[in-house]
Amino acid sequence: MSSVVFLAVFALLLSPSAGITCNEEGIRRDCGYLGIQEPECEKKGCCWHPTQDHSPWCFYSNPSPTAYTVKTIQKTTTGLQMSLDMNDTSSGPFGPPITPLTVSIDMETSDRLHVKIVDSNNKRWEIPTQFVPSPETPTAAPASTQYTVSTASVGEPFWFAIVRSSNNETVFNTSGSFNSLIFEDQYLEISTSLPSDANIYGLGEHVCPLRLNKGQTYTLWNFDTATPENLNLYGSHPFYLDLRSSAMAHGVFLCNSNGMDVSVDNDLLTYKVIGGVFDFYFFLGPEPEAVIQQYQEVIGRPHMPPYWALGFHQSRYGFKNVQALQTVVAKYAEDKIPLDTIWNDIDYMDGYKDFTLDPNNYPQSELSQFVDQLHKNGQHYVVIVDPGIKNEKGYKAYDDGVQAGVFIKDKNGQIFIGKVWPGNTAFPDFFNPGSFKYWQDQIASLMKLVSVDGLWIDMNEISNFCNGECTSSGVDNTLKKRRSERIGFNPTDPPYGINNQGGHAPLNTKTLDQDATHYGGVVEYNVHNLFGLMEAMATDYALRNLTGKRSFVLSRSTFPGSGRHTAHWSGDNHATFDDLYYSIPGMLNFQMFGIPLVGSDICGFIGDTNEELCGRWMQLGAFYPFSRNHDDIHDPDQEPYLWPSVIAISRDILSVRYSLLPYYYTLFYYAHRPVVATAPPAATVTRPLFFEFPNDSKTYGIDKQFMVGSGLLISPVLNQGSTSVQAYFPQGRWYDFFTNATVSESGGETMELSTPMDQIQVHVRGGVTIPMQEPEMTTTASRLNPYRLLVALDNGGASNGSIYLDDGISLDMSNSTLVTYVTSTASGRMTLTAQPQGSYVTASSPPLNTVVFLGLSTAPKSVSVNGKDLSSSQMAYSSSTNTLTLTDLNISMAKPASIVC
Ligand code: NOJ
Repeated sequence: MSSVVFLAVFALLLSPSAGITCNEEGIRRDCGYLGIQEPECEKKGCCWHPTQDHSPWCFYSNPSPTAYTVKTIQKTTTGLQMSLDMNDTSSGPFGPPITPLTVSIDMETSDRLHVKIVDSNNKRWEIPTQFVPSPETPTAAPASTQYTVSTASVGEPFWFAIVRSSNNETVFNTSGSFNSLIFEDQYLEISTSLPSDANIYGLGEHVCPLRLNKGQTYTLWNFDTATPENLNLYGSHPFYLDLRSSAMAHGVFLCNSNGMDVSVDNDLLTYKVIGGVFDFYFFLGPEPEAVIQQYQEVIGRPHMPPYWALGFHQSRYGFKNVQALQTVVAKYAEDKIPLDTIWNDIDYMDGYKDFTLDPNNYPQSELSQFVDQLHKNGQHYVVIVDPGIKNEKGYKAYDDGVQAGVFIKDKNGQIFIGKVWPGNTAFPDFFNPGSFKYWQDQIASLMKLVSVDGLWIDMNEISNFCNGECTSSGVDNTLKKRRSERIGFNPTDPPYGINNQGGHAPLNTKTLDQDATHYGGVVEYNVHNLFGLMEAMATDYALRNLTGKRSFVLSRSTFPGSGRHTAHWSGDNHATFDDLYYSIPGMLNFQMFGIPLVGSDICGFIGDTNEELCGRWMQLGAFYPFSRNHDDIHDPDQEPYLWPSVIAISRDILSVRYSLLPYYYTLFYYAHRPVVATAPPAATVTRPLFFEFPNDSKTYGIDKQFMVGSGLLISPVLNQGSTSVQAYFPQGRWYDFFTNATVSESGGETMELSTPMDQIQVHVRGGVTIPMQEPEMTTTASRLNPYRLLVALDNGGASNGSIYLDDGISLDMSNSTLVTYVTSTASGRMTLTAQPQGSYVTASSPPLNTVVFLGLSTAPKSVSVNGKDLSSSQMAYSSSTNTLTLTDLNISMAKPASIVC
């Protein structure tokens, strides 16, 4: 007897309690959920056998594969349409299978394929295209594609597979799994095989390393919790990027708003979704940056932020009164630490009621005077607004909502009452067409009280202090409701429990009941994950209408497409070195999710921070696209001026940030602007190293360093007590940003770099030209200063870059200038040319005054600008660092220019 047969026989055991035969070594089809215990499993009539690997412990005893059969296949102008049938409709794992199904496979572009599987006879829940746009299917297939698709033939069990044409790499293949497709009312399952060289990223929002661990289930269900590792958090992003050893990447987006578990195992990636349809988009890249750009062509390009939003922000839960704000702003100025924006958390409200002011601590006249002064200083003011509207007659925001009929209803058609900071609350239903006007009217009344520059939308998962509807006494009545009779579609207690909070928590835990209803009878169950997106959309709409300018919105809860309207922060992190590190994968994930304006609470939100941690966090946070220090009400103050060492660190590193803002702003412009077929892909602001170096597999797991654009490599200290950093330098020439010295001539090496408390490692990549501006204490002041170029030469003496300029606030971006810089070296002569396009910049705009060339091995004999020699006082060459610095150039940004050395 072969050992395989022997093992199989040995493993056929009788389950002691249930008296059923369990094949422990065979294929296990999940009968439970993560965290299920033996008694419950056996009660379900299933097998129980814990393992060391990640296969389910509770599984069906004798599963037979569920299979849809292909009935027909028809060619369409863009691909195929198939119909699927299933003969045995008696039962599936979580209900009867839906049959027949229709599968449409559309080749939409040369690098995008769309596969959709729906119920042929009944319309099921799908995300309305006004919330997540679905690009129109073209009338004809593209002439050539990066992929080929194959499917089962008529009469065979259904499967489909996508292969990259250039190298035959399998991108997605549903044929290798036990259940190739399950499609039930409240349970959909599909898997793809994963080769061993698949590196998977995305599937957020979670606190976890950037490259996802295999053998882990990632649950997507928006939830308010203080950022535990691996559990579902504030936002849901059913998107992953897969980078293979071929150095080619593809992306997969499942456009579905229902709760889901996505398990990433060694050889399989499985979706288990509790509603909606399978609506997949596949993006063939092949560069990671191209994958993200192709993804954004579906979900929308990111919002262009106002320039001031890139400045430094100070916030706190617990600023007691206007005086407290004044003190903070004054201390920043006194210690010469740049500050653009001061924030108010819920403290400014009257009884935590949105759109009101606390008459004692934030009296209108005093607050308005303070904000006027801020504006005179060139600074800004942002306040928080929560979605929970206090259920109180006579309170305008409530009365208006009742009158307009725009609040979410409970299953009996009454206004759904939850509980948040002000007490019992109603919640606007942003599916209701009247809700946008209602929301705009409320924001307008707030703006009449005080002239806010932007809004922070929090608690929008929706977070609720009750599990489901609160009774009139505010007491949680969840348990009474949860076990309601199960008749047909059951939003309250679905047959498959996603791994909510790592313990199968009921779906209404700390949020709404799932049978609460939205406009048109849509149940919360289907749209729960969309609320943050919809609130961001309504808030962006209101601010744009009311100000006529670009909006600034910061949202905690997000979904694909949120980046068109809002920035994001990573929520309630902890003042620990672990969370300092996790802020990097968090930030990089949101670049992939199309929300580039992102950052974490600097110095840590929960818990007492300390001088060292806050210093290190100010250093790292100065490079987040969105840079804000924010603190919890229960913790001591943590503004950077509280420790002398942190004052010095913050002053230095924020002036570096402010000097680099033209570079960041230009990156935002590229991420925002419509895709230009002739230009290289551009979709992110900060980037994982593998985005820039996909051929270097050493970069695939790096998440303690990151790139800003293609030119800056940031390597922060992330460990307590550490004064050195292990920094990896991918191939190329690298310069120290602070000393200009070459640190690596050809890269491909790891170095241990001494990094005392007052330093962070920042390196410039040879070949990239970084636009900069002389920094000031605010972006308003910095924008008036002359420009500087940092021209980092590659080993061939070349460098490229650009700067995007506009007024930093207008919605209409047609009045702009893009200056392109190209440096090349031939026959011992180096030439830099500047080529402006557009008419924003005029002769009176700040000029380019300083150019620094890094990596010039000999001092030039002469340097001319636009044909005129510079005087010796305008040039300085350092032979120790091979740097040439040209000063007092006064080159107009409006005209073409050249520098020849
Ligand atoms: C939760 C948010 O995550 C936090 O940033 C804020 O300070 C509190 N809500 C209070 O509004």
